[in-house]
Amino acid sequence: MIDLIEFAGGDAGPWRVTRAESPLGERLPSATRLSVSLPIGNMGQRTGPSTGTIWRLRGVVSNLRYTTSNEAQRLRAVQPPLDRPSATRAALIPIRKSARWWELAQDERRAIFEETSHHTSIGLGYLPAIARRLHHSRDLGEPFDFLTWFEFPPEHEVAFEALVAALRATREWTFVEREVDIRLTRD
Ligand code: HEM
Repeated sequence: MIDLIEFAGGDAGPWRVTRAESPLGERLPSATRLSVSLPIGNMGQRTGPSTGTIWRLRGVVSNLRYTTSNEAQRLRAVQPPLDRPSATRAALIPIRKSARWWELAQDERRAIFEETSHHTSIGLGYLPAIARRLHHSRDLGEPFDFLTWFEFPPEHEVAFEALVAALRATREWTFVEREVDIRLTRD
């Protein structure tokens, strides 16, 4: 069973777009609402609203690439689930990395990701406030390599901005060639 998730931007869905920016590269056409499909086991099946959709982005929840067992244990101990009633704010940040990144070997990528950029250790400092799910899109022939999804209560919005700013200042981000940042709210 593959957990294929579809994000559909348009005029339907529980999440209302409050801000959409394109820090790097081409933007996405503007949408006012976002729907997120439940995991489905059938690749290629469309689950989002059938009308009023402006764009669809799909990704799969996959295995870990750059996480040691110790880091995985620390993450498991503090990471909150998605869909907490208090988490009425969200961010969808689709990201594509450069050919230069994908040409590196696995150990070189890990070294940039964690030993140099401290991605996981920076991120751990923001848990359990922020819930997250990483989706991989690269092997689906999608326009982005990753669809990153975050949910948090409104009082952690400022912390989330600080987290995003800290990650964007890392060496890892010198390999990001396209990034869209969509902020959302639900009642
Ligand atoms: C990957 C943790 C926030 C973007 C990862 C991975 C971990 C992680 C452990 C590696 C998964 C693996 O082993 O394959 C965290 C934590 C965060 C956080 C704890 C705190 C909330 C963010 C934010 C962004 C982001 C805010 C975007 C602005 C990504 C991307 C990847 C990733 C694009 C995939 C990197 C790649 O495979 O090259 N994150 N992260 N993360 N994260 Fe984060």
